[in-house]
Amino acid sequence: MRLLLIMCFWICFLVENHKCTPNHDQVFSITAKTEEEVIIVRNVSSDYETVLWQPAAPGYIKPNMEVHLFVPASSLDTVKDLLSKHYISHQILLHNTQELIEKQTQNTSTDPRSSVLYYERYHPLEDIYHWINKTTHDHPEMVEVILIGSSFEKRPLFVLKLSGKGRSQSKRAMWIDCGIHAREWISPAFCIWFVHYAITYYSKVPDITEILDSMDVYVLPVMNPDGYKYTWTTNRMWRKNRSWHPGNYCPGTDLNRNFDANWCTEGSSSRACDETYCGLFPESEPESEAVANFLRSHKQTLKLYLSIHSYSQMLLFPFSCTYQEASNHDELNELAQEAAQNIRRYYRNNYRYGAGAKTIYLAPGGSDDWAYNLGIKYSFTFELQDRGRYGFLLPPEFIPKACKEALTGLKTIALGVIKKT
Ligand code: ARG
Ligand code: ZN
Repeated sequence: MRLLLIMCFWICFLVENHKCTPNHDQVFSITAKTEEEVIIVRNVSSDYETVLWQPAAPGYIKPNMEVHLFVPASSLDTVKDLLSKHYISHQILLHNTQELIEKQTQNTSTDPRSSVLYYERYHPLEDIYHWINKTTHDHPEMVEVILIGSSFEKRPLFVLKLSGKGRSQSKRAMWIDCGIHAREWISPAFCIWFVHYAITYYSKVPDITEILDSMDVYVLPVMNPDGYKYTWTTNRMWRKNRSWHPGNYCPGTDLNRNFDANWCTEGSSSRACDETYCGLFPESEPESEAVANFLRSHKQTLKLYLSIHSYSQMLLFPFSCTYQEASNHDELNELAQEAAQNIRRYYRNNYRYGAGAKTIYLAPGGSDDWAYNLGIKYSFTFELQDRGRYGFLLPPEFIPKACKEALTGLKTIALGVIKKT
């Protein structure tokens, strides 16, 4: 068998040299230098079977911006030809994404009861539901599960409420959601990791103890379960939810464009097939509606809103839906700066920070801006690791460090907010 393979390879090598290595799905890094090149790169990313990783939509591509593009094996030759025809160079960030995906979907079912290893892996949706069950069952004194609604495909949206013992009447609260975007697997991994950390170190480590004594922490580990499920079964690169609306040609709404904050203006799309599709109307999606309802009904106690995404290592705050500054911009900026400094100091990693619109791009309809306008004046979106080396396919070995540095950012901001409120 082995001999046969080697012989085939040699015959192939002699006859058709350049086609010998089988094509794999790859990720390219492309930087367009002129407006003309920008148009070509936009077309490549929208007209062919490719998936834009960075930025989130073709319209965001600008000259000299580093674009990350997933190119499936079937489009590899066409895309390469097109780029070289226009003298646009590219680097290959990932040579073989199938291999990476296989590695991060293997051995996921370690028994959650016993192993810290559970928190250093990615998990399929069913495992996460099982973990939610188990965690609430094992820690009734600290954890309560709340059903806040269900997804388009009728999967439950569970929030874990973590509370310390300090139960004063005037207890404040904070919110963390993970997994708005399906392919950002490090995000749900962070929420799960955080809950485990809080349970393990409450009353042992001063800062997490202070946080939980001062605030109830609501954690939504997977805000987009249908999309997350789909990334495990069908398409690892999927971003949106999986809703179908009558008359649309494509499924899926970008949940982070579906909130009522300059909804569906520049920076989002009204076309259902686009990655930043804003949906039919604000909160047209059951997932965003459930979160908005919960936040509305708890707005008296909620002081801090946190939304966890990846990738690019940034700490963002309102506004993303307009270039205007938030009324407490300086305060938000200081908190983000302090968080970034701590991450650099303890983990030697750089996080950029700033108002969303100015730091990355206009992106209306986001949950952070909406929560801010609701009255939760400390509102942040974290973009976790990495900077694009692996992008959405961050290998599981990186989970601990990615989570620890994000936790440092979270603690810095939460403790700052506790002092202020
Ligand atoms: N990468 C995120 C997105 O495109 C950024 C979120 C920042 N906040 C926002 N409201 N857009 O959705
Ligand atoms: Zn995201």
